[in-house]
Amino acid sequence: MSTVDEPDGGREPTKANDEVRAAMVAHHAGLVAGLDELVGRAEEEVASGSDAGGELKAVVSYLDREVLPHAAAEEASLYGLARRAGLDPLVQAMVGEHAWLRGQTAALVGKVGVRGVSQARALAAVFALHAGKENDLILPELAARPEVDLGAVLSAMQSQLSQGPEGRGTPREAARSSS
Ligand SMILES: [Fe+2]
Ligand SMILES: [Fe+2]
Repeated sequence: MSTVDEPDGGREPTKANDEVRAAMVAHHAGLVAGLDELVGRAEEEVASGSDAGGELKAVVSYLDREVLPHAAAEEASLYGLARRAGLDPLVQAMVGEHAWLRGQTAALVGKVGVRGVSQARALAAVFALHAGKENDLILPELAARPEVDLGAVLSAMQSQLSQGPEGRGTPREAARSSS
C-alpha cells in the first residue's frame, strides 16, 4: 500500500512528464497515419490495375526515413529507461517487434502488386499495434515516475534522429521523390 512518504507513492504523472508523453503519443499518431496514407495509396493503385511499384517504393522510403530511425532512437534511450523501471520482458518483446519491422521492410524492397501491397498493409497494422503498446504500457508507466525525466529522453531521441540521413520528409514528399 502506498503512503505519502514513499517517493513512488503517487501514480499520477508529473505535469512536465505528461506533456512529453502527450507529444510522444502525438508523434506516434503521425507516424501511424503517415504509413497508413502511403499504404492506402498503394492499395488504390493496385485496385485500379497498376502494380503499385512506385507507391510501394514510397512505403519503403518512409519506413527507412521515419519509422526505423524512430525505433533505433527508442532502443538507444527510451527502452533502457523502461528496462530500469522493471518493464524488461515487455521491452524485450518490443525490441523483437522492431527487428520484425526491419526484416519486413527489407523484404518489401522491390515488391509489387497485390502481394507487395498485402505485405505493406500487414506491416502497417503491426506498427500501429506496436505504437499503441508504447502509448498504453510504456509511456504512462514512465511518466508516472517522479525520478524519470521524459523530456531528457525525448531530447536524446531527437538528437539521435537529427544525426540521421538528410532529406527526411513527409509521406507526400517521400511519394514524390520515389515516383
Ligand atoms: Fe518502438
Ligand atoms: Fe515508438
